[in-house]
Amino acid sequence: MSRRVTNGPEPGPLIERFSCLFQNLYCPKTNPSGIVSLGIAENLLCAEEILSFSRKAITENLIQKDLTYGDNLWGSRRLNEALAGFLNRYFNPAVNVDPEHIITGVGVSAILDHLFHTLLDAGDGVLILNPYYAGFDRDLVGGRSGVKLVGVDWAGYKDQIECQNEDEVQDEWAGDGGLEEAFEKALQNARADGVDVRAILICNPHNPLGITVSRSTLIGYCKFAQKHDLHLVSDEIYAMSVYENKSFPGARPFCSALSIDLERDIEGHFDKGRLHCVYGMSKDFSANGFRIGALITQHNPRLLRTLAQLSIQIKISSPADVIFSTLLTSDYLPTFLRLNQSRLSVAQERVRTWFERRQVVVRDCNAGHFVWVNLGPRIGIKTRDEETRVFQKLLDGGLYVAPGSAYHHKTPGWFRVTFSVPPENLEAGLERLEDLLNLRCADEL
Ligand SMILES: Cc1ncc(COP(=O)(O)O)c(C=O)c1O
Repeated sequence: MSRRVTNGPEPGPLIERFSCLFQNLYCPKTNPSGIVSLGIAENLLCAEEILSFSRKAITENLIQKDLTYGDNLWGSRRLNEALAGFLNRYFNPAVNVDPEHIITGVGVSAILDHLFHTLLDAGDGVLILNPYYAGFDRDLVGGRSGVKLVGVDWAGYKDQIECQNEDEVQDEWAGDGGLEEAFEKALQNARADGVDVRAILICNPHNPLGITVSRSTLIGYCKFAQKHDLHLVSDEIYAMSVYENKSFPGARPFCSALSIDLERDIEGHFDKGRLHCVYGMSKDFSANGFRIGALITQHNPRLLRTLAQLSIQIKISSPADVIFSTLLTSDYLPTFLRLNQSRLSVAQERVRTWFERRQVVVRDCNAGHFVWVNLGPRIGIKTRDEETRVFQKLLDGGLYVAPGSAYHHKTPGWFRVTFSVPPENLEAGLERLEDLLNLRCADEL
């Protein structure tokens, strides 16, 4: 095989782990002894609604042209128009998004691979805050671009946020111990090690922490990118999965990087061509399997042209295109989004209460499909090896949850637990967790 592929990260354990999981998934009716997955960010809370909407959309809107390459080789006018309308309605962009600002592809993973392969050279550095979504290693490091992810440690990401009022949020970026300082330090260290740092990747709302990035922090990132001549890529795949969490009064609403008025909000010059945003259907629309992702870059025609040239390789199939464009332009859209958010809120509350009753700390969150829980103090995990042993014990006992180390989290003992699964799967998973780790309720001890 090529050196390009064999020099990348070793895929073995992950591939094997996922094969064993997917081939033996729990189903209360057909495979009750299978593995319960609470470790993958899949959202099945609105599966029925999406399925029936999709069947209808295909029946009504799939046309003969969908058997051809369509309007062009790299995308579809129908989907780009639908996406532009949706983004203008829900992302509050500073400059209206036009269909021409968008490149689509088979999921955000493919879009990130395509984007970084086009923007950067192999070995170039990308700054990213720890912990971060494990798939970025696959998409950026193991993918075609072969870039280097430079994890940024920031003490301010306290394991448990007590309260976040707007004043504290203002301080998040600037000042002593702020994010800016952490990013400066990581940048200088990477450069001293010979890494040519060329971009920042942010995830907002954040996977795995389930929190949103404040407007002032987004402005800080833009200024930093300008100062150090970096691209700024914002992954906003969970944008519409922000829900109510009554026990998190300081929770912030979603604020898109597209909504920053770069000229007004950032005193001084900002080269707008360096800002790129990615979005997709997988998370907010219960449809990981449809494989739809998009890049929005509003001020970089050269990049768009270059990406378009190679986009036939990741062109979305027309049935998926029909379904998503129909949904994005339908009157049902706001109802669906609200329904999804309210089900996320209920499921999150259920899982949070379950852990808290067992004296397990759950980080405050108001977005995404998962909670970030600290099993460490409760069951005595102090080292990375102990965390791995607990992960393996759970897997052997029929439960998959994602360990913090997969997200490059520094403190051992944290796990990401997905709650957006069918309620019967959630209950079966929690029951196994209780049995396998002997997690009795505090009031039963
Ligand atoms: C932050 C983030 N980005 C991208 C992806 C990949 O999404 P897609 O299914 O569109 O490839 C995921 C999936 O878990 C994710 O959590």
